[in-house]
Amino acid sequence: MDPALNPYAPGAGTQPPELTGRANLLEAARIALTRTRNGLSTKSFILVGLRGVGKTVLLNRVEDQAREAGYLTSLIEAHEEKSLPALLLPELRRILLNLDRGEKVEAAVKRGIRVLKSFTKGLKVTLGEVEIGLDIDPEVGVADSGDLEADLPALFLALGEAARARKTAVAIIIDELQYLSESEFSALIMALHKIAQKGLPLLLVGAGLPQVVGLAGRSKSYAERLFDYPEIGPLSPADARLALVEPAERAGVVFQQKAIDAIYAQTQGYPYFLQEWGYQAWNLAPTPKIDAAVVARTTEASLGRLDAGFFRVRFDRLTPREKDYMRAMASLGAGPHRSGEIADKLKAPVRSVAPVRSSLISKGMIYSPAHGDTGFTVPLFDAYLRRMMRS
Ligand SMILES: Nc1ncnc2c1ncn2[C@@H]1O[C@H](COP(=O)(O)OP(=O)(O)OP(=O)(O)O)[C@@H](O)[C@H]1O
Ligand SMILES: [Mg+2]
Repeated sequence: MDPALNPYAPGAGTQPPELTGRANLLEAARIALTRTRNGLSTKSFILVGLRGVGKTVLLNRVEDQAREAGYLTSLIEAHEEKSLPALLLPELRRILLNLDRGEKVEAAVKRGIRVLKSFTKGLKVTLGEVEIGLDIDPEVGVADSGDLEADLPALFLALGEAARARKTAVAIIIDELQYLSESEFSALIMALHKIAQKGLPLLLVGAGLPQVVGLAGRSKSYAERLFDYPEIGPLSPADARLALVEPAERAGVVFQQKAIDAIYAQTQGYPYFLQEWGYQAWNLAPTPKIDAAVVARTTEASLGRLDAGFFRVRFDRLTPREKDYMRAMASLGAGPHRSGEIADKLKAPVRSVAPVRSSLISKGMIYSPAHGDTGFTVPLFDAYLRRMMRS
C-alpha cells in the first residue's frame, strides 16, 4: 500500500498513531500534577523500562498534560558527556524569566533569578554560546558553594518559591536518567527532598533504563520514599492488537487475526517493534488486507532493517571486549543470565570480566535485574547477536 499514507511511526520518541496500554499511567500522572499544583504531598516518579518501550513518548505526553494544567515545563535528556547543571541552566533560566513576566514585580521571582546567577558562579558552569546574561546581582551566599549537593537544593527551593508566588507550578522532566552521575543523582534527590518538605509546586518526572533504580538507591537511601518507579513494559496481546489495528481501521485496512498473532510472536509486544512491523506490513501489503503471508515477508524486511540499523548502531559503539561479553551472553539465550555463567562462557574468572560488565552497564547496554544477574536493555538483542554469529 501507499507508503505516503503509512500511519505507523517506528522511531525514537515519535508519537505512535495509537498509544495503547498506558491509560493508568497517564491517569496517575494527572493526579500527581494536580496534587503538586495544589501543594499536596506527591511522590515524583521515574518511568523505568527497556529500550523502545515508549518512555520518551510518555514523557512528552506528561509534558503536554502539565502544560494543560498550567505548569511551566522543561524536558531535558541526560547525556553521558554533559553535566546536569549545564543541561538544567538554560531551562531554569527560561522558566524564571517567564515567571518574571507579569504586571506585578514579584520579590520571590527576582530572588529566584539572583539565586540562579549565584548557582552559575558557584559551579562555574559555562554554557558555551549561551551566556547566562541575567542583568541582576547574584544572591551572595545562596547556592554558590560550588558543591552541587548543596547548591541544587537551594536553587530548586528558590524556583519552587518563585512558582508559588506566581500561583503556578513547574515540572522538570528528565529523560535517560541513567546517564546522571551518582553525585548528580544525589543532588537531585536532595533537592526534591527539600521541595517535598516545603510542599512547593515543583514536580520531577523522569525516565530511564532499569539501572536507574539502583543508581538512585546508592545515591541516597531515602530515594525510595521520594520516588515511585512505574515499570513500562511490553504491551499485552490485547493492547498490541489495538496498536496495530486502530490506525489500520481508520484507513479501511484489515488485519487478519493470524497476522496479528504472528506479529506478536515476533515482537513480543515491544512498542518499537510493533511500529516497525506495522510500518513494513503496510508497505508490503498489495491489498488493504494484511494476512499471515504478508507478515512473513514483513518479518524478513523488518529484521533486515533492525539488524542494519537499530541493533547495529548500538553494537558498533562497543569495544572488542565488550562485544565478546555481549556475544557470550547471547549464546546463553535471551537471559537474564548469572554473571558467573557468562564468565564461564568467556573462560575467564568473574573478577576479571567485572570491569567490562560495569562499562556495559554505564553505556546502557545491559543491566542487573537482580544481584549477580545480567540482562540486555535492548529487547531481542540476543537473537540479533546470534543471527550475526551464524552469518
Ligand atoms: N503505548 C504505545 N503503543 C504503541 N506504540 C508505542 C507506544 N509507546 C511507544 N510506542 C512506539 O514505540 C517506539 C519507541 O518509543 P520511545 O522512543 O518513546 O521508547 P523509549 O522507551 O524512550 O526508548 P529508548 O529507551 O530507546 O529511548 C516509537 O516508535 C513509538 O511510536
Ligand atoms: Mg527514549
